[in-house]
Amino acid sequence: MASDPSTTVVPPKQGKYLEGRGKRILILDDQPDSVRFLTDTLKYQGFSVITSDDASKALDLVDQDAFDCILCEVELAHRKGFDVLSHAMTSNPSVPVIMISGQGTIYIAVEATKRGAFDFLEKPLNANRLLVTIRNALAQRQLMREKVEVSDDTLRRYGLIGNSPVMKNLFRQIEKVAATRSSVIIWGETGTGKELVARCLHKLGGRREGPFVAVNCAAIPKDLIESHLFGHRKGAFTGATVNYAGKFVEADGGTLFLDEIAELPLYAQAKLLRAVEQGDVEPVGGSPTRVDVRLLVATQKQLRKSIEQGEFREDLYHRLHVIELAISPLRERQEDAVLLANHFFKHFVDVCGRSDLTRISPQALRVLMSQPWPGNVRELEHIIERAVIFSEGPEIIAADIHGALEDPLAEPFSLQNDILRSDMTFEDAKELFEKNYLACVLKQHNGSVVAAAKALRIDRTSLWRKKKRHNL
Ligand SMILES: Nc1ncnc2c1ncn2[C@@H]1O[C@H](COP(=O)(O)OP(=O)(O)OP(=O)(O)O)[C@@H](O)[C@H]1O
Ligand SMILES: [Mg+2]
Repeated sequence: MASDPSTTVVPPKQGKYLEGRGKRILILDDQPDSVRFLTDTLKYQGFSVITSDDASKALDLVDQDAFDCILCEVELAHRKGFDVLSHAMTSNPSVPVIMISGQGTIYIAVEATKRGAFDFLEKPLNANRLLVTIRNALAQRQLMREKVEVSDDTLRRYGLIGNSPVMKNLFRQIEKVAATRSSVIIWGETGTGKELVARCLHKLGGRREGPFVAVNCAAIPKDLIESHLFGHRKGAFTGATVNYAGKFVEADGGTLFLDEIAELPLYAQAKLLRAVEQGDVEPVGGSPTRVDVRLLVATQKQLRKSIEQGEFREDLYHRLHVIELAISPLRERQEDAVLLANHFFKHFVDVCGRSDLTRISPQALRVLMSQPWPGNVRELEHIIERAVIFSEGPEIIAADIHGALEDPLAEPFSLQNDILRSDMTFEDAKELFEKNYLACVLKQHNGSVVAAAKALRIDRTSLWRKKKRHNL
């Protein structure tokens, strides 16, 4: 290769801790200045760099499967850059391709992303931005290359999937907490798996032979919740035609899981406090009975805020707040999105009888990994189900995911949970709002920056810059 004048191999700079060590980057560009800049910048970080300015040779190089990342100029040999991109996406889809161009038009950028480019960079290039983009591209490639087999072990033991550091930490906490009798507050946004965690604590604890009873406090009318939880005697109120034991008694000897605990009305909280403190429950119109129940509660709200607003009893909070388990939102553990997507894929292929579907393509996984997931794991599950149903096969491609994401029935984003997180600064909240809001508006306009900018009444370049900054 080195003897070929159109292809130059630049040996890596020697060094011990260079991030590019052992990584090979293919640069396809025919503009000497930018080739020099790219080569110098990457070489300095220890990358092995191979360059070519010939579009037809580029196709052979792409086929070699010898590169970890490809940088390709759109204008390469008179706009052949897109041909190289399309070729790379079919011949070697797990290698990320970053398109570069001196003409940073929206058309080119959109086209690059549509055709499966990992990202698009505008010339003149900025060394930091270049390196960050390459680092992200390599991180995703690593994830896709690792056997993204579902972690059967965690699924079997915990009923949960997750391999991210935060999920591993959660599993460690679960191991410690399950065996105790203490009350637990499980905190997490909607769809993060709070009920699964509660079931897991029950299954791994000493009460596994007893019942697990789940009650969603938000789903029961406020005037019925008391009798629902604590039971009632026949004739205690109009409509009480028979004795009813209530959920506490039903969970006797086992676990009671109260979901959306912040929605419990104050009067029922007083009764709950008594049940927790004294271990007995009082049915409406009846006398107290002793129960032996482990209480697990879940909330998406910050209970401290609810206390400040006079909606939650502080004494009850302190009684319940023995242990708190927090589940991170999916957007903070995108590596789990790949595991979960493959898990749901297998499940829905079975359920929907789509054995003709072989896999989720690497490009489609990339799209999944860049979503904000306001509905968390539940939303991801629904997206995969839709993609499996509507995919033309033989694999789920990026367009299937885009189609599934554009479902008009998809839940709109909710910022409330993030904003209510006590550790969030005003600046972070503004950033998060901007990101989610732009994601929503772009989605409404099918990803068109032009249409979205018009709707937002800001200029296109400004939206384009924001889109880049938020990695949308
Ligand atoms: N780590 C996980 N592994 C596998 N499936 C998961 C995981 N987390 C969530 N799910 C799935 O996502 C869906 C939502 O989970 P779950 O009902 O436990 O969430 P939740 O936090 O209780 O939601 P909500 O706030 O709406 O009550 C379920 O179908 C569940 O099986
Ligand atoms: Mg729930």
